[in-house]
Amino acid sequence: MSPSPTDSATPPDTPPPDTPPSDKSPPNTASTDRDPAPRAASHAGSKGVVILGGLSAIAQATARLYAAEGARIMLVGRNADRLSQVAADLRARGAARSEVSVLDLAAAAPQARDHLTGWSDSLGGIDHIHLAYGVLGEGPAPDTLPDLASLLDVNFTSAALWSEAAVDHLATRGRGALVVIGSVAGDRGRQSNYAYGAAKGGLALFVQGLAHRVSGSGVRVALVKPGFVDTPMTDRMKKGGPLWATPDAVARTLRRAADRGGPIHYAPWFWRFIMLAIRATPALVFHRTKL
Ligand SMILES: NC(=O)c1ccc[n+]([C@@H]2O[C@H](COP(=O)([O-])OP(=O)(O)OC[C@H]3O[C@@H](n4cnc5c(N)ncnc54)[C@H](OP(=O)(O)O)[C@@H]3O)[C@@H](O)[C@H]2O)c1
Repeated sequence: MSPSPTDSATPPDTPPPDTPPSDKSPPNTASTDRDPAPRAASHAGSKGVVILGGLSAIAQATARLYAAEGARIMLVGRNADRLSQVAADLRARGAARSEVSVLDLAAAAPQARDHLTGWSDSLGGIDHIHLAYGVLGEGPAPDTLPDLASLLDVNFTSAALWSEAAVDHLATRGRGALVVIGSVAGDRGRQSNYAYGAAKGGLALFVQGLAHRVSGSGVRVALVKPGFVDTPMTDRMKKGGPLWATPDAVARTLRRAADRGGPIHYAPWFWRFIMLAIRATPALVFHRTKL
C-alpha cells in the first residue's frame, strides 16, 4: 500500500484564494518568505497549509511533501530558531512560501480563531490544516495532578479547541481539510499509558463528531492514528521490527487523508486489525497482560 501525496485522481481543492492579500500578520508570525511580492496573487494555484506542531518529526515529513508541491506553508511551534531552520529547508525543497509562528499551542488554543484568521491573511488563504503536536509523558500517567492536567490539556483540550476553530475557519470558505493526529493508544485504555491514551481517545471522538458535522459541506475532517513511529517522542522505547514506521510513511498517510477526507486512517494500515483484536479481548484476559 503506497499512498501518493499527489494522487491525480483527487481534484485539487485550491481555487484562487478568496481571502484578499494582506500585510497584517499576527504579532507572533514571522515571515521567512524569500519573495515579498503580493501574497495571494503570486501563488494562486498552490495550497495554503497550516501545520500546528510544525517541529514534530511527523509534521516535518508532512511539510516536505507539501513543499515539493510548491505549497504556501505556515509552521507553528514553540522554538523560533528551529522553526526558521525548517522553514528555510522547505523553501529549498520548493515551497512557494514558508512562514513561522511561534506559539505554545496549548496556551494559545482559546485564541485559535484569531490566529487562524491572521495566518490565512498572511498565506493568502488556508486549504489544509494539520494538527500534529502532542506529548507522550512517562509511564501510565503523570505522578502529580497538575502534570496530569497539563498532559490532558495538551493532547485533548487544546487540540479540541484548535480542531473546532480550524473547521469553523474552513467552513467559512466551504472547502479545505483538517487532519488531526490521534493514536492507536486511544483505542483502548491500557495500564501502560492510559492518560495519553484517554486524551487521544477523547480527541478521536471529538474529531469524529466534527467530521459528521461538516459531511457533505466540502470541508473534510480526518483522524490519522499512527502506531509506533520512530521520532523523538519514542526515543525512550526500544525501536525496530515490523511494527515500527518512519515519519515519512505516516506523512504520506496524512497527506492522502487531507485530499480524501476521513473519518479514520490507521498508519500503517495494519494497526486497524491489531487494534480490532485488542479492543475485542475480554477484560478478564486483557488484565493479565502488561500491555
Ligand atoms: N511517535 C509515535 O510513535 C506516535 C504514535 C502515535 C501518535 N503520535 C502523535 O503524533 C504527533 C507527532 O508526534 P511525533 O511522533 O512527531 O513526536 P515529536 O517529534 O516529539 O513531536 C511532538 C511535537 O509536539 C510539540 N509540542 C508539544 N507540546 C506543544 C505545545 N504546547 N505547543 C507547541 N508545540 C508542542 C513539540 O514541540 P517542542 O519541540 O517545542 O517540544 C514537538 O515538536 C503527536 O500528536 C503524537 O502524539 C506519535
